[in-house]
Amino acid sequence: MIGIIGAMPIEVEGLKSRLQNSQTENLAGLQFSRGMLSGVECVVAHCNPGKVNAALCTQLMITHYQPRLVINSGVAGGIGAGIHIGDLVISTAVVQHDMDTSPLGDKRGYLSGIGLIEIPASEKLVQLLGRTATEVYKGAVHTGVIATGDQFICDSAKLHELGRDFGALACEMEGAAVGQVCHVNNVDFVVLRTISDNADDDAKMDYTTFAPIAAQRGIDLLCRILPELS
Ligand code: ADE
Repeated sequence: MIGIIGAMPIEVEGLKSRLQNSQTENLAGLQFSRGMLSGVECVVAHCNPGKVNAALCTQLMITHYQPRLVINSGVAGGIGAGIHIGDLVISTAVVQHDMDTSPLGDKRGYLSGIGLIEIPASEKLVQLLGRTATEVYKGAVHTGVIATGDQFICDSAKLHELGRDFGALACEMEGAAVGQVCHVNNVDFVVLRTISDNADDDAKMDYTTFAPIAAQRGIDLLCRILPELS
């Protein structure tokens, strides 16, 4: 079983509508739909935006469905001159950019309890997805750090900070929460994001225009990639 988590309806409805023999269950107010996607047994969940929603959803998914790997897919803001709307970013690692105990002497993003800043994604998954995406995705494919926080980033100064402090290529609001929960449960994970905006002063307008298109491109890609993961 492969687990797929998306935060918004545009990131999950296109997957749920392609599920065959699907059964839906509600847990803690979240919908989990299980069935066959591209011939692969999957459970697709809609977690809602933000780290707490994503963490809750991921733990429920792991506890109730025991997925052997979890993919967090959706849209993201691009960081840096080389990342464009429509590009794909695959996480080598995820960070929580709004986790900050630096006044107490820690580095920014340090996660007490697990003792890490970067939570590594599954190398095997990154390689496999990177290879397949490069062959089939109609757009640039990047692999690197994805930064997560409970904020929609639409500010050039902030996005430069995320690039400088974390080396991040993209920002979003769930990936590192999914990653942390998978990490402590020893479940492989990867974050797969299509760029909907550049997290700058135009981000709101770009997001409104491009998020549905970017989300659909991510869904189409995921459906093509899934058989490679089984
Ligand atoms: N998801 C898509 N664009 C985003 C942005 N600019 N900030 C946070 N999450 C996003």
